[in-house]
Amino acid sequence: ENPAYQAEFDAKIDAGGYIEAKDWMPEAYRKTLVRQISQHAHSEIVGMLPEGNWITRAPTLKRKAILLAKVQDEGGHGLYLYAAAETLGVSRDELLDALHTGKAKYSSIFNYPTLTWADIGVIGWLVDGAAIMNQIPLCKCSYGPYARAMVRICKEESFHQRQGYDLLLTMMKGTQEQRQMVQDAVNRWWWPSIMMFGPHDKDSVHSGQSARWGIKRISNDDLRQKFVDATVKQAEVLGRDDDVDPELKWNEERGHYDFGAIDWDEFWNVVNGHGQGNVDRLAARVKAWEDGAWVREAALEHERKRAAREHQ
Ligand code: 3HC
Repeated sequence: ENPAYQAEFDAKIDAGGYIEAKDWMPEAYRKTLVRQISQHAHSEIVGMLPEGNWITRAPTLKRKAILLAKVQDEGGHGLYLYAAAETLGVSRDELLDALHTGKAKYSSIFNYPTLTWADIGVIGWLVDGAAIMNQIPLCKCSYGPYARAMVRICKEESFHQRQGYDLLLTMMKGTQEQRQMVQDAVNRWWWPSIMMFGPHDKDSVHSGQSARWGIKRISNDDLRQKFVDATVKQAEVLGRDDDVDPELKWNEERGHYDFGAIDWDEFWNVVNGHGQGNVDRLAARVKAWEDGAWVREAALEHERKRAAREHQ
């Protein structure tokens, strides 16, 4: 630790400035950014699996094209975020090894199964809706490469959320079975979506320091509340406000919606790898990594030969 550099770093943070990859930074700042950015990237890549499951089964060519574009976007978000994490001096291989060995986390939400086509709409509406809430403040994160990656990603997230909501609006104009399918999907995805924002602030190990460092601009609970307040109204337009949460109701005094208690046992059970889909999701990622080994080896061998020719 170097007091002069520390003072310069603190001054930049306090002025709401950006820290760049070549700037001095406390080791703990670098470590928590590698943790958060790499887990964010893992979430994007694992998040391709639940939706990818429906690309071959989309009901129309238009919906197939939209879903294909969205899943490809998520892959791009992941690669963008791995590149941002690499600016902190870690290798892609290290980050992926941490995912494949279960050392690194990815968002709990992607461990739930996509049982019907309505799930695809609800994921766009709720999961990408929650992701937008969480990612907009990250565009002002104090670490430059992460903030800039978020600006580009947030532009695409709006499309992701709109297409999901549009899909559901279409189904709500359909048959009673289709409307019930939407309600069933909302019932299964509502609580896991509000869990995406993380533990309550009082139980959050990183929030205090992340807020101090300008990494977390709005707290877990405040973002969660913003999401609930915005989403309840959208559910009313959709005509799906059957009580997924009987305690969900407007509180004039607070100026927010009250909602019921979150099942934190379910949350930590999934975060710690024991959810319905954790084993399958991780196995799918490890298989993709192993199946792709020959491509990496061929590219590296090609690069070695090219370099050797260049130095002949
Ligand atoms: N799923 C899995 N782990 C979670 C979690 C969740 N929903 N919420 C919190 N955690 C983990 C944290 O990673 C931390 O564990 P760690 O120390 O091993 O990393 C622990 O629970 C304590 O939580 P904290 O609130 O103290 O941790 P953070 O300050 O990191 O806050 C966060 C958690 C709000 C998720 C924050 O990391 C963050 O903003 N991350 C960036 C955004 C992100 O990753 N979003 C995930 C979804 S990406 C997505 O949805 C893609 C979209 O295109 C669909």
